Amino acid sequence: MTTINKDPETIRARNRKTLGAIKTEDLEVIFPSNGLDVMALKKTDLTISSGEFVCILGPSGCGKSTLLNVIAGFVDATSGSAFLDGNKIESPGSERSMVFQQHSLLPWKTVRENIALGPELIKDNEATKTTDHFLDMVGLKKFEHHYPEQLSGGMQQRVGIARAMATYPKVLLMDEPFGALDYQTRLVMQEHLLQLWAEFNSTVLFVTHDTDEAIFLSDRILVMSASPGRVVLDIENPLPRPRTQLIFTDPAFIELKRRCMEIIIKESMQLR
Ligand SMILES: Nc1ncnc2c1ncn2[C@@H]1O[C@H](COP(=O)(O)OP(=O)(O)OP(=O)(O)O)[C@@H](O)[C@H]1O
Ligand SMILES: [Mg+2]
Repeated sequence: MTTINKDPETIRARNRKTLGAIKTEDLEVIFPSNGLDVMALKKTDLTISSGEFVCILGPSGCGKSTLLNVIAGFVDATSGSAFLDGNKIESPGSERSMVFQQHSLLPWKTVRENIALGPELIKDNEATKTTDHFLDMVGLKKFEHHYPEQLSGGMQQRVGIARAMATYPKVLLMDEPFGALDYQTRLVMQEHLLQLWAEFNSTVLFVTHDTDEAIFLSDRILVMSASPGRVVLDIENPLPRPRTQLIFTDPAFIELKRRCMEIIIKESMQLR
């Protein structure tokens, strides 16, 4: 493992070793389930460039979390492969960080200790400073000595986000990270995420059910089919950056939302 400073130039230098380009080829995942196999992903071919911000939309159960889990190295492909910078993904690695759909905090550790796990994992020689920075970023400085059970669901999720970001990963895998947050906190977190992304140029795969959020954040949007999941719409987001919430009134925003919604509604109807 490498030792890093949180100085952006040093982080960039570390990340130069990992470009963060992701590719999947004929990726399929089948879960055996009481003798009845569940095909979670079907023949998924994806190419995501280094530094790209990609949002994934799709109906419940279509395999979005499974896709992220394969890229994180937590779930094995049944057939086909996933690659990071041309290397087959076979296990987790500190250059890939995941924010889970439900928080995954260690209940016996405080907020500070949970966030510090990230910097400690990558042997950050300024782990305390880095932890302070991310505690501040998610607005939980006052709660640093609290335990997860003493926090609201939204606060727990913010700790998980801080922990994942505090490793300055080259690939950030985010599974509906803001779904449990109230509207205002969600907007603040979206802004923070875009700032961090601009600063460190991470590749981001961001799963959401919120089309507005996907358009506000992304360079590109993937819409997945109903189960078994495959990509049925792959569309560039033409809206210029930097963006403000005013883009919600932009005709290009409305047109992009219409195209995504058409497919999402069609796919969601297939669940009935
Ligand atoms: N560990 C597992 N064992 C068995 N089946 C699983 C497992 N994980 C996921 N599945 C099944 O794979 C399919 C895809 O699940 P996944 O969690 O990837 O969907 P999703 O798109 O993330 O859904 P949601 O939007 O509800 O979070 C579902 O049918 C689910 O039941
Ligand atoms: Mg999911």
